[in-house]
Amino acid sequence: MRTALALGLSLAMSLSMSAAAHAQSGAAEGQKLAFDRGKGNCLTCHEIKGGDLPGSIGPKLENLKGRYDRAELTAILNDETVRNPLTVMPPFGRNRILTEQEISAIVDFLQTL
Ligand code: HEC
Repeated sequence: MRTALALGLSLAMSLSMSAAAHAQSGAAEGQKLAFDRGKGNCLTCHEIKGGDLPGSIGPKLENLKGRYDRAELTAILNDETVRNPLTVMPPFGRNRILTEQEISAIVDFLQTL
């Protein structure tokens, strides 16, 4: 009985630890994709914490978690022309510049800003 409880506890602990590690690696991967000139190339237009030589065509990306939920950030990355038909921000999802998984990792990263 005790052993089963201990086993269950350690299983639950390792599961929640791997979930945390997963979210962390998603954000790290997302940062790489966001800064990669052949992928997100977000620094061309946005100042982002940790990135060098940013452009200033778009606003500084900060405090995003307080202003947008996950679905909204995904929508902005997918196709910002839906919110703003005149935007110069590329529709990363619609134009398949980034895959759904890549966008999801970048959203993980944006939520840490
Ligand atoms: C060619 C320039 C350009 C690139 C590249 C670009 N953006 Fe943008 N982005 C903009 C502009 C301009 C806006 C301002 C809103 C608008 O135009 O609709 C914006 C707005 C945003 C917003 C909303 C910010 C806020 O404070 O409301 C987010 C989030 C965002 N961009 C994320 C990204 C990410 C992540 C990438 C890279 C995958 C990226 N952008 C690449 C130009 C760009």
